[in-house]
Amino acid sequence: MTAQDFSGRRIWVTGASSGIGRATALELARRGGTVIASARSHEALDALVREGPAGRLAALALDVTNRQATQQTASLIEQRFGGIDIAFFNAGTCEYVDVKRFDSALVERVIRTNLLSLIYGIEAVLPLLRRSAHPHLVGMSSTVAYGGLPRAEAYGTSKAAIYYLLQSLRLDLAPEQIPVSIVCPGFVRTPLTDANDFPMPFRIEVEDAARRIADGIAAQKQEIHFPKRFSIPFKLLAMLPGFLYNRLAGQLVRSS
Ligand SMILES: NC(=O)c1ccc[n+]([C@@H]2O[C@H](COP(=O)([O-])OP(=O)(O)OC[C@H]3O[C@@H](n4cnc5c(N)ncnc54)[C@H](OP(=O)(O)O)[C@@H]3O)[C@@H](O)[C@H]2O)c1
Repeated sequence: MTAQDFSGRRIWVTGASSGIGRATALELARRGGTVIASARSHEALDALVREGPAGRLAALALDVTNRQATQQTASLIEQRFGGIDIAFFNAGTCEYVDVKRFDSALVERVIRTNLLSLIYGIEAVLPLLRRSAHPHLVGMSSTVAYGGLPRAEAYGTSKAAIYYLLQSLRLDLAPEQIPVSIVCPGFVRTPLTDANDFPMPFRIEVEDAARRIADGIAAQKQEIHFPKRFSIPFKLLAMLPGFLYNRLAGQLVRSS
């Protein structure tokens, strides 16, 4: 498969009503894939289908925090499209923690939407990927997974757990030749980051992110991290001794 060509691939993208998921769904459809787009917002999904190339996108609304609905959606895709080749579990949310009012309900919400949803998705999709001639599992983590950041006790924890989960899964699925890719973006301009109240170095546009993700999926990269001018320094930062890491990382994500 070339970087341009996803023809013949049936691709399930969650969180496709907005931001990175929406742009990636469009990019994959424009490169020839058949994309099944899921999220809760019916209207936004219908608009996506209208915007994309004719016949290449379909909408199936889903709340990814619902295990049963996730399984039903996977079954419906199999009935309508004959299977799934690539699953991109991208849906997510972000809430920051105020440590003075540490709230387990907030943490639970974020873990449920980001992490548990991915676990439900994996459970639903693995039997279908096993029946595909070209299976590929892709999950959305974040560069935040590389090291703890202030206020990220909920969001960062969910993304670090996703990173570990997908690394584990990669090892277990290797004998079955099912590749697993982890997507780790830095800052991308979307409604999610528009809500941030701190400086976001090297924030890139969502179309740029979508192209990088589609290229990474086509190349079956283990980790799709970008922009490199942000992700590589962050990886190096995480390797520093604790006292230095704390000093530098402690300055990030602080409200301006
Ligand atoms: N933007 C960044 O800089 C950045 C960086 C690293 C990682 N990420 C990750 O990238 C992913 C997409 O983020 P984004 O920036 O594109 O944010 P976004 O524009 O807010 O999009 C989030 C998507 O997730 C969907 N979603 C949220 N809760 C859902 C639920 N319960 N069921 C189904 N869908 C749900 C939303 O759809 P509905 O509301 O219609 O359900 C929407 O389509 C997230 O996992 C995020 O953590 C983003």
